[in-house]
Amino acid sequence: MIRAFHIYKYYQGNQSALIDINLKIDKGDFLFVTGPSGAGKSTLLKLIYLREFPSSGQLLIDDKNTLHLKRRELEELRRHIGVVFQDFKLIPYLNVYENVALPLYISKEPEFRIRQRVFSALDYVGLVHKTEKFPPQLSGGEQQRIGIARAIVKNPNLLIADEPTGNLDYERALEIMNMLVDMNTRGTTVIVATHNTEMIKRYSKPVLFLREGRIEER
Ligand SMILES: Nc1ncnc2c1ncn2[C@@H]1O[C@H](COP(=O)(O)OP(=O)(O)OP(=O)(O)O)[C@@H](O)[C@H]1O
Ligand SMILES: [Mg+2]
Repeated sequence: MIRAFHIYKYYQGNQSALIDINLKIDKGDFLFVTGPSGAGKSTLLKLIYLREFPSSGQLLIDDKNTLHLKRRELEELRRHIGVVFQDFKLIPYLNVYENVALPLYISKEPEFRIRQRVFSALDYVGLVHKTEKFPPQLSGGEQQRIGIARAIVKNPNLLIADEPTGNLDYERALEIMNMLVDMNTRGTTVIVATHNTEMIKRYSKPVLFLREGRIEER
């Protein structure tokens, strides 16, 4: 599903953020990505969720080279990827329902299907009773559950989370991590970048270590 061959990423005016990355992530895998600050974790994830593109090397997603995608192919791939962020990135002036529905508004689905999907996602994260609330009225843990609902509302086959528990206490972090692992047991490919070594130890899942842009063999 995801193959990287000798990927390098340079940002303007910066040294390499990623150096000679080779990796293979199969459908249904769960992978932790860890390493010190600045190691390139977010950059690697951004390449995979198609926010950035490699400076050189090849990144294949579903056998398609991400550097050679037509606009339509890019949109199609992005439709199947859900992303969860450390700072939630919810829109404060939209209510919970609208935040979760947002990724569906660009699709041409009828309103009743959108409602079904939104309620099913909110049910999964246990927040159906908060549909009318606005993000600033929710706790951090609740906001991140909304972040998860928004990420899964399109039934993505790839779920990417960049430090999803970075702003949460241990109990809230566990709730979120358990949901990501559960999504994986339901068949979704899940990639989680985290500093939280305690979390990584808790779940015996494969771990990719990055340091100064390179994969570190352990
Ligand atoms: N948009 C950008 N422009 C220029 N340099 C960038 C940009 N984004 C990241 N970098 C640089 O690329 C390197 C890798 O950054 P990245 O955000 O991928 O690290 P990270 O492992 O996610 O770190 P953290 O744990 O702090 O989130 C760093 O040196 C960073 O300063
Ligand atoms: Mg980061």
